Order: sequence, then structure tokens, then C-alpha cells
Amino acid sequence: MLAADAPIVIFDSGIGGLSVLGPILDMIPQAPIVYAADFAGLPYGEKSEIEVATRVCAILGRLTERVRPRLIVIACNTASTIALAHVRSVLEVPVVGTVPAIKPAAAQSSSRVIGILGTAATLRQPYVDRLAQDFASDCHIIRHAAPSLVHAAEAKLRGDSVDGGVYDRAIRGLTDQDGGDAIDTIVLACTHFPLVQSELAAAFGRPVTFVDGATGIARRVASLTADQPWPLSAPVRHAIVTGVADQHSQYQSAFAQYGIAHIAPL
Ligand code: DGL
Repeated sequence: MLAADAPIVIFDSGIGGLSVLGPILDMIPQAPIVYAADFAGLPYGEKSEIEVATRVCAILGRLTERVRPRLIVIACNTASTIALAHVRSVLEVPVVGTVPAIKPAAAQSSSRVIGILGTAATLRQPYVDRLAQDFASDCHIIRHAAPSLVHAAEAKLRGDSVDGGVYDRAIRGLTDQDGGDAIDTIVLACTHFPLVQSELAAAFGRPVTFVDGATGIARRVASLTADQPWPLSAPVRHAIVTGVADQHSQYQSAFAQYGIAHIAPL
């Protein structure tokens, strides 16, 4: 029997998963949540496939033992495109992944020129080639790896100042490529990037549609848990994180906006 207080685990290398947690809470406000951040492993986007896969499987294995989740959301494109199949093969818990939203982007682009911003590790995955081939074969897809946006989003949520040049450089990485002038849709293929979407929109300077997978993931989670029991009183939401303990407090106000009051070490 599934316990009513069994949480949904939302996992990312850092605070990027909050962009997925938001729509999940909008749809399932009664859900107990464990937000898991591997701050010690960030950035995943600069790591090798084997490093990411090993880390993600080990951490999610430990978390599963510890919090007995009803479902895990890998709210990280890098971890999902590399390790989703590995995680599913070692855990009994249902696992929902996050993959670049190329399909919805292709469905709505008029110019048929789509930009993708992601981490270097995500953008080199065959998984992304397959998505482009299956859902956007008539589109010109321009990819740009923007690792500095990961750090910009982390800094923004800590309340630190961020040099605006970071956003200009990320956008120019797309628009300076062949055909870049015609981009009308940008896939935010890293969960950190929706957290700096308004800054990216300002840097783009003309109308553009940003697409990410968060709402689709929330719908999937809601449908997988539709018939499950939930706590009758206010659900518990907390964070479990790796990394140096005295750095965790810097994220307290960002977590608090999602009702997460308590941060514990893994
Ligand atoms: N948030 C992660 C993603 O969606 C990546 C951040 C990192 O490089 O650790 O890809």
C-alpha cells in the first residue's frame, strides 16, 4: 500500500529543478515533495557521460532508500538524456525524465528555424538527434551550449548579482550562426534556463517564443499519481542536498518560494 505521505522526489544538479517543481505544485498542490540537489556535482553539463550516469544512479539509489518516494522526476535534461534508462533499470520507483522540448517547439514554429540552448553534455546526446529527426525534420535546428547560464541562474536565485553580458553571449551563440536571424522559437533544454527566461527574452530583443518541458512533465506526473492517496493535512516539502553545508543557507529564500523550509544534507 502506498503511504499517503510518500513524497515525489524532484532531482537536479542544482536549483534548475525548481522550474519543473513550480508547474507540478500548480497541478498537485497536495503533493509532499523532496527536492534533491546535487550541488557538489554541479555542473553536470561539463561532465562525461559515465560520471553523470554513475552519480545520478548512486544519488537516486540512496534517496530512494531514505525517503521511499512514490515517483522520481529527473528535472535535469543532462541527467535525463544520459542516465534515464540506467536509473529506470536499477530502481523500482516510476521515473519521469526531462528531455529537450523539440516536439512542442516544432509544432509551433512558423519560420521553421529553432534554437536550442542547453548544456554541452545534453546537446551532444544522440537522444537529441533522434528528437530532432522524429519531430522536427523539416526545421533548421541551431544548437548552442551555454554553461554560463547555469551559473547565472544559480547566482540569481542566491540573490547574487549577474553580469548581463552572460545573456547576450548566450543569445548571440544562436543568432550568429547561419540562419540564426530567422529563429522564432528557442528550446530551453536545461531546467536552469527558464529561471532566467526574462533576461534571455530581453537579450534577444525581438519577439521569440521560449519552450520548455515543465508543463508536460507536470501533466505526466499528475496523470501517473491521479489515483493515489495524499496527506489530509498540509504536505511536507523539504530539500536534501549534497555539498558544503554552510552554502546551503544561500538558497533558503529561493526554496522558501516553493514552500520548502527545511534543507538537509544527503
Ligand atoms: N539543470 C541541468 C539540465 O537541465 C544542468 C545543469 C548542470 O550543468 O549541472 O541540464
